[in-house]
Order: sequence, then structure tokens, then C-alpha cells
Amino acid sequence: MPESAVCRICGGEVTAFMDFGEQPVSDCFLPPGSTAPEHFYRLVVGACSACTMVQLLHEVARARMFHEDYPYHSSGSAHMREHFRRVAENFLATELTADDAFIVELGCNDGVMLRTIAEAGVRHLGVEPSGSVADITAARGIRVRKDFFEEATARSILAEDGRAAVIYAANTLCHIPYMGSVLDGVRELLAPDGVFVFEDPYFADIVRQTSFDQIYDEHFYYFTARSVAAMARGHGLELVDVERLPVHGGEVRYTLVREGVRERSAAVGDLLAAEEAAELTARPTLEAFADRVRAARADLTGLLRDLRARGEEVVGYGATAKSATVLNYCGIGPDLIAYVTDSTPAKQGRLTPGSHIPVVPPQRFADARPRYAVLFAWNHAEEIMAKEEAFRAAGGRWIRYVPGVRVD
Ligand code: SAM
Ligand code: TMP
Ligand code: ZN
Repeated sequence: MPESAVCRICGGEVTAFMDFGEQPVSDCFLPPGSTAPEHFYRLVVGACSACTMVQLLHEVARARMFHEDYPYHSSGSAHMREHFRRVAENFLATELTADDAFIVELGCNDGVMLRTIAEAGVRHLGVEPSGSVADITAARGIRVRKDFFEEATARSILAEDGRAAVIYAANTLCHIPYMGSVLDGVRELLAPDGVFVFEDPYFADIVRQTSFDQIYDEHFYYFTARSVAAMARGHGLELVDVERLPVHGGEVRYTLVREGVRERSAAVGDLLAAEEAAELTARPTLEAFADRVRAARADLTGLLRDLRARGEEVVGYGATAKSATVLNYCGIGPDLIAYVTDSTPAKQGRLTPGSHIPVVPPQRFADARPRYAVLFAWNHAEEIMAKEEAFRAAGGRWIRYVPGVRVD
């Protein structure tokens, strides 16, 4: 019998379809020489038989993931900086044209989106629990509250600032298991005709590409239009628009409003129909996905062992949170990958969680000219390939594992 749990959205039964075993906290990079024991949890993902929401069966306490040392900096990608500049400009031109319009962003990180809003002089507030990045936001002159968003936070913001025309969250809503409290807070804080817009990895893209590394502690939920529509209904909200986004390996931007205040776009019906036709959360689809994940593990470890046997040096590119699942599920350590390069200063000089591979600055990668590099930041492939043309020109080869293992 597969493991089961109670659905965090509707109370239905969540049945596991993939078990990745014991995993460390994905963004917990270790200082060298650290002797403190690492925290491990069991990474198991399942789908609810009632509302279809795909979710983790075990959660990591939020304070273990989002704290003063949280090392992820959203502004590290030029492509994502541009993406969020466009998001902000679009809000400024549409939902934020009233004189006193107010926008709240959940998980504003280092202010990558809100900086454009602040520059335009529009009333705003970022809610960001991770001190390391909230401080950067504040230093940029952006208003930020160092806090977790939940219903109590929403009430306190409402009392201080009034209702919001826009509540926005990118790559944050799927990080929050206590969704009921968040959606009740959103509904209370939102202006009568306001919009709650959020974008997160799309489960259909994860299945299509077998991007199993999207599954890790911080990604508690894996949304579809169907599960989001059901989740919204449970809290007096309604899904009125969806838009597929070509970032982070495929996402959907969902727009929720108070029930009945806006028309539903045709895109919602289209996406719901496509999901139904694909039988996205049906047992055979989920089991086939799990089979492909196991095959990817065999292919990747087979390739890396073969390269080691031939004496080739293999390194990693991008010490992503995603890579924690790949490295720990596949049992890849410093014997197979000498180091991982990453542009984030907060990760450099540390060891990858669980797998203990040193993280080094990009200059080391450029100087050492390894033969093979596993592209862990595959969602930033275009930007990284352009930056690292010299690696390929000198005969370097990229190893990828999404949508399948290949060397090119
Ligand atoms: N929005 C940025 C982006 O898309 O690049 C940051 C995404 S980052 C992966 C997720 C962020 O959500 C982190 O900065 C984390 O501290 C924040 N976060 C986690 N739980 C939260 C909560 N309950 N309320 C607000 N932010 C939260
Ligand atoms: P993400 O896939 O969760 O956005 O994480 C990307 C990681 O890759 C992050 O640690 C920063 C790193 N990175 C580089 O090292 N070089 C780059 O050019 C880019 C875009 C990201
Ligand atoms: Zn459910």
C-alpha cells in the first residue's frame, strides 16, 4: 500500500506516487568544517483523490527553510530581472492606475519586482520572512515587512495600510503549506475588485519534462488549473485567468478574485480541458512519471560513473535548491562531481546539503576548464550558455537530465 496523508487543502486523502527517501533541507548549504548534524526529512509526493492537489506528504518547519541565512537571491538572473520588470510595468499600466493604489507582494525576496513599483512611486509592501533578502530589499528603499504572510499578517497590514488592489506572489505560494490561512488573509486584504496574481511551476510541465528536481521541501504544492480553481472556491475566491509562462521550466500565472466580480477568461476553460484530456493526476500518469524518474536516476548515475572510470573531471553548474533532490536521490557526491559553481556569494565556500560537494565561484570554473558540467540550473540554460560560451568553445560538454539525460 502506498503511503497516504490528509490533504492540506480539502481534507481528502493524498496518496503517494513517488518517494525520494531521506532528503536534507534544500537551501541549507553547510559552512566548511560544520559539525552540526543536518536535518533530514522524507520527500514523498502524492495527489489528493478529492481535489487533485499534488503535494508533499511531510513538511519541513518553515523556520528551518526561511531564515536569516536563506541564500536564494532572485536578482541573480538577468533574465528573471527582466521578467519581473515586465510584471511590474504591466501592473502599473493596468491594476495600479488609481491615485492611492496599493500592492502587496508575498515573498518579495531581494525586491526584484517591487523595485520598479517603488521607482514609480506607487504604494507597496513586500512581505518577506527571510532576513538576509528582506534586508537587501529595505536597503533598496522598498517597504518590506520581515514576516511570514498568513491571516494574522493580512489583518495587521489591513489595519495599517488598507485594502490592496493587487496581491502578488511569484514562486512563493507553492512554498506555503498553511494555505487556508493565506487565502483567508488574501480575501480579507484584497480590495472588492482587487486581484490576487501568483505564478508557480506548472505540474503539467513537470510531468511532461520529467523535471523531478522541481520536487523538494520548499515546493510543497504542484499546482494545476483544476486544483487551484478548487482551492480558490473553498475560500470565497475564483480563478478567472491563467497564463502559461516560459520561466523556471514552465509556470502558470493564476489570477484569483472575489467570487463573481470578474468574468472568467476563455484561457481557464482551455487549460482545464487540456488537463482533463491529459489525465494529469490520474494514477497511471503519476506512476508512469515515477517510472521515468527512476530511469533518469539510472541514466545519470550510469553516465557519471562511466565518466569517472574514464578519468574525466565532471563538475556542476548552479547550486540550485532543485539540485538537492538530484544529488541526494541519485547518491551523487564529490566522488562523481568535483565541485558545483554558483554566482551567489552566500552559497560559495559552502558544501551542498546532504551531498557535501564544494560550491565555488564562476571564476574557478572559467579558470579550470573542466571537460563536463552538469547543468543543474537548466531553467536558466539560455542565459548560462551565452555567458559560458568559452566553456563550449574549449571543448567542454554540458550534461543535462531534463527532459532526459543527454550530453551536448
Ligand atoms: N518572488 C521571488 C522570485 O520569484 O524569485 C522569490 C521566490 S523564493 C523561491 C520564495 C520566497 O518566499 C523566499 O524569499 C521566502 O523567504 C518567501 N516565503 C516563504 N514563506 C513565505 C510566507 N509565508 N510569506 C511570504 N513569503 C514567504
Ligand atoms: P534557481 O534555478 O532556483 O533560480 O537557482 C539558480 C541558481 O543558479 C542560483 O543559485 C544562482 C545560480 N546561477 C548561476 O550560478 N549563474 C547564472 O548565470 C544564473 C542565471 C544562476
Ligand atoms: Zn484535496
